[in-house]
Amino acid sequence: MTKYGSFPGARPRRLRTTPAMRRMVAETRLHPADLILPAFVREGISSPVEIGAMPGVVQHTRDSLKKAAVEAMEAGVSGIMLFGVPEESKKDAAGTVGTDPDGILQVALRDVRAEVGDDLIVMSDLCLDEFTDHGHCGVLDSQGRVDNDATLERYAEMAQVQADAGAHVVGPSGMMDGQIGVIRDALDQVGHEDVSILAYTVKYSSAFFGPFREAVGSSLKGDRKTYQQDPANTRESLRELALDLEEGADMVMVKPAGPYLDILAKVADSVDVPVAAYQISGEYSMIEAAAERGWIDRDKAIMESLTGIKRAGANMILTYWATEVARQL
Ligand code: PBG
Repeated sequence: MTKYGSFPGARPRRLRTTPAMRRMVAETRLHPADLILPAFVREGISSPVEIGAMPGVVQHTRDSLKKAAVEAMEAGVSGIMLFGVPEESKKDAAGTVGTDPDGILQVALRDVRAEVGDDLIVMSDLCLDEFTDHGHCGVLDSQGRVDNDATLERYAEMAQVQADAGAHVVGPSGMMDGQIGVIRDALDQVGHEDVSILAYTVKYSSAFFGPFREAVGSSLKGDRKTYQQDPANTRESLRELALDLEEGADMVMVKPAGPYLDILAKVADSVDVPVAAYQISGEYSMIEAAAERGWIDRDKAIMESLTGIKRAGANMILTYWATEVARQL
């Protein structure tokens, strides 16, 4: 080996020598404004209820939700995505409380909006599954199948009551065909032209949603495979994307995030609207559980998982760690 020869000619390790050097050349940086906090609010409870399968995440009372929203805002988080958990006895086949102006989600939207004004983006999950007694994201036909077009009518109404209650952004997550167009029309018809749609454009039928079922007290038996996507497919995602953009989506989302980074990268490369990714309940719980057992370094695993999602192309990341991570950044 010659002293000044060309072997090894290139030494990538030079740029990894010190923390300062690594910091300078980092291509991906997380910022608090990248983060959105998903939060659950439950009707009829007097103190927050721990979610067993998501250690560290709770079902909020109206009061504790307001506090969580303010804390997120103060930490620099961009937005909060609200999920309502009604009293069990109020669920029915049509998910009626999902469109009741006094339903838990609408009440919580008003609470949070009154607290944060326009300084934190208030978003609402637009889906029926938390409100139906069968737990599906839509209404059922006489044979028990999810009825796409009948569900769209419910979504149109839901969009209007959520916007009336103060949502800056609605997040349709039910994967019904045509939902974005119908919701856009419904909002515009009642003067909510300024309310944006964050479309759950790419949503796979995922086992990693498991802990969420406990979080919202889901009544679902069975699965959502007739409306959520098959994890085996890519082209289908690009089709969903084209349709949602055509129908007027302001922002698009890929969900789950971690197991679908290839899809996220493809989506991010092919659109001219902001792209969100949702690090879902199971992604959260896996890291928490492994850390609890001492198998991985919790904080490093969290940062790495989020950095990976941003590197793949997400502008915004929904994560249950939003406030905690924003404080660390
Ligand atoms: C539907 C909805 C779900 C999630 C967000 N919106 C559940 C589902 O589709 O089964 C999952 C979020 C998570 O797992 O963290 N309302």
